[in-house]
Amino acid sequence: MGTATSELTIRPYEQADRAAVLRIAADTAAFGAPVEVFLDDRRLFCDAVYRYYVDYEPEHAWVAVAAAEVTGFLVGCADTRRRDRCIARRIAPAAAVNLLRGRYRVGRRTVRHACAEVAAALRREFPAVDLAAYPAHLHINLDARWRGQGAGRGLMEAYLRQLRALAVPGVHLRTTSLNTAAVALYTRLGFELLDARATRLWAQVAEGYVENRCYGLRLG
Ligand SMILES: CC(C)(COP(=O)(O)OP(=O)(O)OC[C@H]1O[C@@H](n2cnc3c(N)ncnc32)[C@H](O)[C@@H]1OP(=O)(O)O)[C@@H](O)C(=O)NCCC(=O)NCCS
Repeated sequence: MGTATSELTIRPYEQADRAAVLRIAADTAAFGAPVEVFLDDRRLFCDAVYRYYVDYEPEHAWVAVAAAEVTGFLVGCADTRRRDRCIARRIAPAAAVNLLRGRYRVGRRTVRHACAEVAAALRREFPAVDLAAYPAHLHINLDARWRGQGAGRGLMEAYLRQLRALAVPGVHLRTTSLNTAAVALYTRLGFELLDARATRLWAQVAEGYVENRCYGLRLG
């Protein structure tokens, strides 16, 4: 199974891709730049955000491959409430134990970002989404060398086909106004802006006006 776009191939994720997917996730987390822009230890980021997709729902993950190298990925979740339960019951407790045992480096950047997240939540800067209409979600990231060559569209189309085959009614995703290439990709695929909130969450790392955005696509 796989869709070739010139020398790029889109295929389902395999467990052997895990390290490459997590590396690209961390290398591209800050609007396409490395997560170290706002966190001290990428292991904390990978455990808190990505472990769910690669370890608990790998059947909905896809990779872009060129010359046997993973160049990008899309990780998906068909039922966001299921992901939220898994985070509350398994992933957050495991990460908290690692944190208390000193297994993550926690420095000024991490503390500052954690405080900014809490403040943004209190100011209601995270967009709302109707999970009954848009139960699925996704994250997509490509290695910087492989952007603009069709892999993003290929990954999205593979995942959207999969969700339609499962009769999932809708899919959403979260991004920011700073992710301009991503916004162009989602808009071209028919996603609509569901909610946008001005935010100061990224004030330490980006200048000017920034919005947290949620886009959605009905699949029925
Ligand atoms: C966003 C991302 C996944 C897009 O993947 P990509 O392979 O670069 O995009 P594609 O080449 O498949 O382009 C898809 C469409 O978006 C458009 N597009 C891509 N990059 C664009 C850019 N920088 N500006 C405007 N439009 C752009 C293309 O014109 C294309 O439209 P078409 O297929 O109708 O011709 C990739 O650029 C990326 O990983 N960026 C950094 C991480 C990131 O922001 N991830 C998303 C977090 S929410």
